[in-house]
Amino acid sequence: MLNEIKNIIGEGKYAYVRSFGCQLNISDGEKIKGLLMQMGYNFTDDEAKADLIILNTCAVRENAEDRVFGIVGSMKKLKEIKPSLIIGISGCMTAQAHIAEKIRKSYPQVDFVVGTSAISSIPKLLFDCLRGEKFGVDIAEYDDFSEVEQVRESKFKASVPIMFGCNNFCTYCIVPYVRGRERSRKQEDIVTEVRDLVQNGYKEVMLLGQNVNSYGNDFGEKGAFPKLLRELNKIEGDFVIRFMSSHPKDATEELIDTIFECNKVAKHLHLPLQSGSSDVLARMNRRYTVEKYLEIVEYIRSRDSGFSLTTDLIVGFPDETDADFQATLDVIKRVKYDNIYSFIYSKRSGTKAAEMADFTSDEVKSARMRELLELQREISTENYKRFIGKRMRVLVDDVSKKRKGYVTGKSNEYIIVEFEGDETLIGRFVDIEVTDSMNWAVIGKMVK
Ligand code: SAM
Ligand code: SF4
Ligand code: F3S
Repeated sequence: MLNEIKNIIGEGKYAYVRSFGCQLNISDGEKIKGLLMQMGYNFTDDEAKADLIILNTCAVRENAEDRVFGIVGSMKKLKEIKPSLIIGISGCMTAQAHIAEKIRKSYPQVDFVVGTSAISSIPKLLFDCLRGEKFGVDIAEYDDFSEVEQVRESKFKASVPIMFGCNNFCTYCIVPYVRGRERSRKQEDIVTEVRDLVQNGYKEVMLLGQNVNSYGNDFGEKGAFPKLLRELNKIEGDFVIRFMSSHPKDATEELIDTIFECNKVAKHLHLPLQSGSSDVLARMNRRYTVEKYLEIVEYIRSRDSGFSLTTDLIVGFPDETDADFQATLDVIKRVKYDNIYSFIYSKRSGTKAAEMADFTSDEVKSARMRELLELQREISTENYKRFIGKRMRVLVDDVSKKRKGYVTGKSNEYIIVEFEGDETLIGRFVDIEVTDSMNWAVIGKMVK
């Protein structure tokens, strides 16, 4: 079918693909591009130049959805100017049947809607559309897209999904409803993909899954994720392996031992806490207590007292009390994260938490958020001093936006590093010595 569509599309056509949300969705966007490339499309960042626009959406917050509806609304104009323009909507929003219906009824400029597990249907939907069919929808759950090749944005950093879906049903989160149950890719497919990436010069591989620690559970395999890390670590070449996210309920000592054992696995762990109150964690259905979480942290720090940890936190979960919030601050002070990603709780219809009573005002939630961020700024400032005088290995990402003549990159510990250098260093590992620190980065100088 791809060749048939390629002939209908003809040469010199441009596609604009815009992805929202998390890295897994961005990786899906790269797969969509992979399919479009096979159909002969070139890519553009300019909507006005595009013959095909695909918005690859996120549903984690309702205001993210409203934003997409705003963008779709504004595309009506583009279609008036260029009636041959095709507009498709993919991603997590579309997995909800009522959204597909709302788009069909209220946004006639949209030509098709495709669900997160139906990306492989895009050629068929395009084909139907090019033959004059009005509104195509496919939000079924097929599992035949996991091996579609991605058109990657970066030439040196690659994301590699190792599993899809989520079984955890945290009460605030829409993801399990829009991404379906956990499905793991075969270990040999992942190893082959990573080997190819390394051979093609990639220097960082980010393994993705909503909970990588349950990788392989659907095959009935225990400990499959540490085993996968060990297999990937055997691949020859100079590269770093990262992974996200690691659910604390399944973070085992074996996982941590494996991080220390494997020289290519980054010495950093993103361990989403969400709340420092065991009561709130229970209402979130996180299935660990603060004590269990701190045991994992203690195990890591017993092996390396300066080990870098980052986390996700939700502030203002329904009826989070002052004491609950103080408990979160206490955990932050104790763990001393190098960085946190914090979100004010956002009521998401379709989830259990949306039904929970919530008497905390928005002002209180915002004040809590400010306090949390202020505390983290102090901790990061203090934490980053531990690197001064030490050496770090940095993968250079870009030229610095803040300092002329400097470049920016991430150390193995996932710390932002800035140092004097030029764009020829982008995509390379560089050894630096840390000379100074701030609350968001360290400054260094190249070691000859
Ligand atoms: N699977 C990952 C995990 O368990 O850590 C998280 C994936 S989720 C897409 C990313 C983050 O969004 C979560 O860690 C959580 O902090 C945040 N999040 C999800 N739903 C939210 C909501 N309704 N309100 C605020 N933050 C939310
Ligand atoms: Fe959402 Fe929880 Fe699944 Fe993460 S583990 S995607 S927070 S339901
Ligand atoms: Fe990711 Fe948003 Fe979907 S965070 S999994 S794109 S709902």
